[in-house]
Amino acid sequence: MIRSALMNVMTAAALKAGRGLKRDFGEVENLQVSLKGPGDFVSAADRKSEKILFEELSKARPGYSFLMEESGAVEGSDPSHTWHIDPLDGTTNFLHGLPIFAISIGLEREGQMVAGLIYNPATDDMFIAEKGQGAYLNNRRLRVSARRDMSEALIGCGVPHLGRASDHPRFKAELSAVISKVTNVRRLGAAALDLAYVAAARYDAYWERGLKTWDAAAGIVLVREAGGYISTIEGGNDMLHSGSICAGNEAIHKQLLELLAKVPA
Ligand code: IPD
Ligand code: CA
Ligand code: CA
Repeated sequence: MIRSALMNVMTAAALKAGRGLKRDFGEVENLQVSLKGPGDFVSAADRKSEKILFEELSKARPGYSFLMEESGAVEGSDPSHTWHIDPLDGTTNFLHGLPIFAISIGLEREGQMVAGLIYNPATDDMFIAEKGQGAYLNNRRLRVSARRDMSEALIGCGVPHLGRASDHPRFKAELSAVISKVTNVRRLGAAALDLAYVAAARYDAYWERGLKTWDAAAGIVLVREAGGYISTIEGGNDMLHSGSICAGNEAIHKQLLELLAKVPA
């Protein structure tokens, strides 16, 4: 288990923000049946979580920069460190009362991802990883799955939402190529958890396009530290900024890349 000062700081911030999300999630379930729905309430919960993470992390590591989903970039006096923060990944799930959402915190040091934490307050699953220190779920060391055969693989993916309808034809073509080769596919609705699930061997691989740095930053460290492979869908290294992500164990990651490469753009 990682007990570094850095991981203590990240864990404490996530637990504090997570307590608020857990309370608010209980309230969201009551709001489902109201005419106005829980929309505004959820945006407030999201912003509150981000505020707590920002305050706690700035207090503990003064000067680090931030890239946050809700407030954008905050330049610190130390440009070599950047926190990538999604205060609530899986907003649609949260809004609909589905307990599949997470806080995601990734730390970039001099252009490299060095630490990641993904915490689902509804299940108390705390995924953590630090470069060179392994990946953990609560106190358990994580290792990616050992499956090598695509026909036995369970693959996660992301479906572009209604506002990204121009991405639907390509996604449908990719999905169609993948479902003809694998056991089945899943769509969780929280990219950070998708990556954590690859690290935890719950998925054999996962792919998605159109992600932001805060969706993927923490997961990159988790997958690598669990012995997995992660790249862009084109096989490149700029997963953080391109938004194109493919992760898995060595064998299934390779076969999924080959399969997706045959799908016309
Ligand atoms: C979204 C989720 C979803 C992914 C979207 C993300 P949000 O993040 O991670 O799984 O498909 O691309 O934007 O909006 O719930 O933080
Ligand atoms: Ca997100
Ligand atoms: Ca979010």
